[in-house]
Amino acid sequence: MNRRIWLASCGLAIAAAMTGCNSLPLEPVDPPPQRPDRVLNFGTLYSENCAACHGERGQGGAVIALASPVYLAIASDEVIRKVITNGVPGTPMSAFAQSAGGMLTDEQVSALVNGIRQWAQPGKLAAVQPPPYAADTPGNVQRGPQVFQMYCSSCHGPDGKGGKKAGSVVDPSYLALVSDQDLRTIVIVGRPEFGAPDWRNDLPGHPMTDQDVSDVVAWLQAQRVRYPGQPYPEGQAGSATRGGKP
Ligand code: HEC
Ligand code: HEC
Repeated sequence: MNRRIWLASCGLAIAAAMTGCNSLPLEPVDPPPQRPDRVLNFGTLYSENCAACHGERGQGGAVIALASPVYLAIASDEVIRKVITNGVPGTPMSAFAQSAGGMLTDEQVSALVNGIRQWAQPGKLAAVQPPPYAADTPGNVQRGPQVFQMYCSSCHGPDGKGGKKAGSVVDPSYLALVSDQDLRTIVIVGRPEFGAPDWRNDLPGHPMTDQDVSDVVAWLQAQRVRYPGQPYPEGQAGSATRGGKP
């Protein structure tokens, strides 16, 4: 090949790599890597950004199972979009949208919201109405221990410090890193991947009411200590709250 033509084809190859056109009669060129902010494929976006914590197919693991039918029944697209966009301050859930300092464009956030919604299994919860995502009424902290006793103590122990079937739910370092909403979400949704029941099955045959959920969550919140890791007695509950509800 003469040098001029060779140089010209180099130029074309670079142009082809940049435009994505690889039909030129040159050495086979790998498809050009997609710019990270152009990726709109749900599977790619999810596995690169979310799977490590929420499980490869949303089945949960380190944190809540997004693919759970109960979760998808209570969480609206707006809720999911808001959490992905802004994260949950004070917890390991970081803000993913560029508008909030993350890496994802609004289109990519929408692709994630739509993809997560596709996991819903319509009909799975037909005729069952879970308690609402957000509390309708404020929780009554005084009633909390009674609700805990009835629905939770069989697994988490009488005082929540752990029992035969499940660990502590009053551990200060756990409570310091979880938002009030996440506690509510977990009580409604459970952690099916670990056998933690949803609101219907803590006490089979007696689904928890919205008020039960609010009261037990208020009680869990009251178990937070102001300075986790400090040697204060556990009963000395602080008023620290997490997740944007000061
Ligand atoms: C480093 C671990 C981590 C990664 C990565 C992560 N999350 Fe989360 N996510 C969390 C934690 C922890 C929470 C619970 C936060 C809280 O306490 O409210 C959460 C909560 C959520 C919730 C709200 C649950 C509720 O109660 O309504 C949604 C929705 C969510 N994450 C979606 C995503 C998506 C989508 C991605 C990927 C773009 C992602 N997360 C990546 C840790 C993570
Ligand atoms: C049938 C047993 C069982 C019952 C009843 C039960 N849980 Fe659990 N719960 C579990 C298991 C198992 C886990 C996961 C493993 C662990 O934390 O030990 C869990 C985990 C949790 C977690 C931690 C979730 C996380 O993200 O790490 C919270 C909070 C919780 N339960 C609250 C409650 C509350 C409040 C009740 C009562 C309304 C309740 N549980 C009733 C078995 C149960």
